[in-house]
Amino acid sequence: TKIALFASGSGSNVQAIAEAIEAGKVPAEIVLLVCDKPDAFVVERAEKLGIPVFAFKPASFESKEAFEAEIASRLHTAGAEYIFLAGYMRLIGPTLLAAYRNRIINIHPSLLPAFQGKDAIGQAFEAGVKITGVTVHFVDEGMDTGPIIDQECLRIEHGMTRHGLQKAIQKIEHSLYPNVITNLLNGNREEQN
Ligand code: GRF
Repeated sequence: TKIALFASGSGSNVQAIAEAIEAGKVPAEIVLLVCDKPDAFVVERAEKLGIPVFAFKPASFESKEAFEAEIASRLHTAGAEYIFLAGYMRLIGPTLLAAYRNRIINIHPSLLPAFQGKDAIGQAFEAGVKITGVTVHFVDEGMDTGPIIDQECLRIEHGMTRHGLQKAIQKIEHSLYPNVITNLLNGNREEQN
């Protein structure tokens, strides 16, 4: 199955997905990486991994609708059937939602619906919760609000630092996301209406 990944940052999830594909664990081909920050490290990673990249500056387009239309056109040309967001720090708008209805998935570093939005790891740390985790969910028009596909939890041990928590969350993400993608592409998850 041809998939596209969207990212804005370091791209460790992109790397984990690409490696899982390479290892034959995920039945997918990454046909495009979409990045809204041309300077992000993920662009370098993708190029090293041989993944085609579309990196753009939102400010150089007239509107969100305009850059999403450009993204949609490139996705169609590349033949992408699904979009997996991996640290894409921007809300998906109506143009892309319409073009990829129920085919956009996100990973979020908390047990949703707790700690939506930015810095979910910091939010959980500050709140002093003892259990947090990672969620993979379908994307709708809200921020981190669509139907949940899978979750994995993690205990915040006494004395754990914020950095330690971040490492532990990332470790979970890097195994959970490839697994969920595999299940989804194998049809082990009903698509939502
Ligand atoms: C991940 O924690 C993801 O859940 C969040 O952004 C982070 C991206 O990390 N939405 P990376 O760029 O994949 O390293």
